[in-house]
Amino acid sequence: MSFEAIKQSLASDMSVVDRIIRTRLHSDVALVNQMSEYIINNGGKRLRPALVVLSAKALGYTGEYHHCLAAVVEFIHTATLLHDDVVDESELRRGHATASALFGNAASVLVGDFLYSRAFQMMVEVNNMRVMQTLADATNTIAEGEVLQLLSCHDASVDAASYLRVIYCKTAKLFEAAMRLGAILVQVDSASEEAVAKYGMHLGTAFQLVDDMLDYSGDEQTTGKNLGDDLSEGKPTLPLIYAMQHGDARQAAMIKRAIEQGNIEGFTEVLQVIKQTGALEYTRQQAKKESDAACAALSILPDTAYKQSLLQLANFAATRQF
Ligand code: IPE
Ligand code: IPE
Ligand code: MG
Ligand code: MG
Repeated sequence: MSFEAIKQSLASDMSVVDRIIRTRLHSDVALVNQMSEYIINNGGKRLRPALVVLSAKALGYTGEYHHCLAAVVEFIHTATLLHDDVVDESELRRGHATASALFGNAASVLVGDFLYSRAFQMMVEVNNMRVMQTLADATNTIAEGEVLQLLSCHDASVDAASYLRVIYCKTAKLFEAAMRLGAILVQVDSASEEAVAKYGMHLGTAFQLVDDMLDYSGDEQTTGKNLGDDLSEGKPTLPLIYAMQHGDARQAAMIKRAIEQGNIEGFTEVLQVIKQTGALEYTRQQAKKESDAACAALSILPDTAYKQSLLQLANFAATRQF
């Protein structure tokens, strides 16, 4: 099943989620509406809200709160993107100019705060302390992850273990939380809750590994983002770490310099070493391992169409081109 087919199978739930997103974006401040509508209307895969819905349904949920929580998770994700594009000085997102490029950094940071706090208003309405605890922990960890990454920029001594810690915090944690929310709504036993949370963690890790690979090898039309953003920030992502460890002395020194200086002019040369050393294949393989671990975590779930979709999504995370 393709990603589109999975989304299609969730169409009726996702249209409710979309309606909530649109209604709850509203503010009396015109610029808030303008900017949040800009970023929301530019699309996005809506992967994290789909996970909330799938987790709840795969565990047998029959209530309504999964729609609201799916919207909450998408708001949190969107807030992090508004902030992330300021920090990363990115100019393209979802195939359009980033909000920061169009409206400026100050407005992006502030509207990101609006989306964060709107998400908190909405999660309070669900009136469930474990839901609030999960989302409070996730947002806090994401912030730590982004700061950890900031500290690792231009540092060529960062190893795979520190890199994995960063991507767990900045990305995988929200996937984990999205899955856990479904389990909390259904009030399943803790083994089932931990199993779906584990699926989310491995899925999110696979997703970010591929994201970091696509930053060197993706098609800009397909990803909707510029190539080379990570290199220009001097981010020691897995393709660079691997290439540095497996290239010869001259190649390793060149990559080290590129990380330390963060210069995009060296992109072609760096990419050549990345390709020669097989760093892209290696990163893809690691993503595949994470996606297999995600699938294995679901073994305790009953066999339903929702479980099948989750298994397919894990495959999508590791093989995606967008
Ligand atoms: C982008 O996430 C940020 C990462 C964690 C890599 P997505 O690729 O899910 O972004 P959209 O919502 O589909 O644009
Ligand atoms: C995204 O990290 C993580 C968060 C937004 C918290 P990246 O900076 O790697 O993602 P893109 O490439 O900008 O989407
Ligand atoms: Mg970024
Ligand atoms: Mg970033």
